[in-house]
Amino acid sequence: GVGPWDECFEVAVQLALRAGQIIRKALTEEKRVSTKTSAADLVTETDHRVEDLIVSELRKRFPSHRFIAEEATASGAKCVLTHSPTWIIDPIDGTCNFVHRFPTVAVSIGFAVHQELEFGVIHHCTEERLYTGRRGQGAFCNGQRLQVSRETDLAKALVLTEIGPKRDPDTLKVFLSDMERLLHAKAHGVRVIGSSTLALCYLASGAADAYYQFGLHCWDLAAATVIIREAGGIVIDTSGGPLDLMSCRVVAAGTREMAVLIAQALQTINYGRDDEK
Ligand code: IPD
Repeated sequence: GVGPWDECFEVAVQLALRAGQIIRKALTEEKRVSTKTSAADLVTETDHRVEDLIVSELRKRFPSHRFIAEEATASGAKCVLTHSPTWIIDPIDGTCNFVHRFPTVAVSIGFAVHQELEFGVIHHCTEERLYTGRRGQGAFCNGQRLQVSRETDLAKALVLTEIGPKRDPDTLKVFLSDMERLLHAKAHGVRVIGSSTLALCYLASGAADAYYQFGLHCWDLAAATVIIREAGGIVIDTSGGPLDLMSCRVVAAGTREMAVLIAQALQTINYGRDDEK
């Protein structure tokens, strides 16, 4: 049957594909790079261009909807999730990869209604893989159904994380000691690929057993959360409690056992909240 948000989903897929074409082309060109909250928090003209395209097209089609988007937020827009239909957009996730031509770059479009995530679309634009998840309808990559890993033993886990933008000595100490704790617990490996959304898509695909991060934003998490849940996975807060999209922290895993083991191993890095900036 036709669901209430089918049209929105179709438009999101088309825009994620169009955005991917723009990013692929821009990848080979000269870029002007600026910094945001830290020397490692980058933005280019392409981030702005892609965000403007996605938001203006969606606004035309769905004038009553609301938007949370990475670069608008960086320019001072408030990040609040109301009950209205809300699009949560990262035009280029992996901007640092994009700048260096490291081929792990994505467009992420999530959609929530009544503060509940309805669908997510993530386009791995350098590999032309389209990840989608719709509440109650499963998760797919280029039409193939996704299924998370069933691993429950941390000593058999491949774990993904991202560094986050803060690079002061105290933050780095906690970041590295968290990684050390997982390696002491004999995790098979820890990977940092430079894109939160794509790391989360790998988790949804069963290509890794867990993911955790401090310092990611709601636009890194919204679309991927639907995809992981629809692939059978767990997305929670680093405290072990329920996910809070605005809390700038997350643990995700194929199984609840694994998610809890990771959460218990971590010391917190405080990044504040997206809705209090
Ligand atoms: C960032 C990347 C990075 C992660 C940050 C994200 P951006 O997204 O995913 O790997 O560490 O937390 O904000 O800025 O490239 O869209």
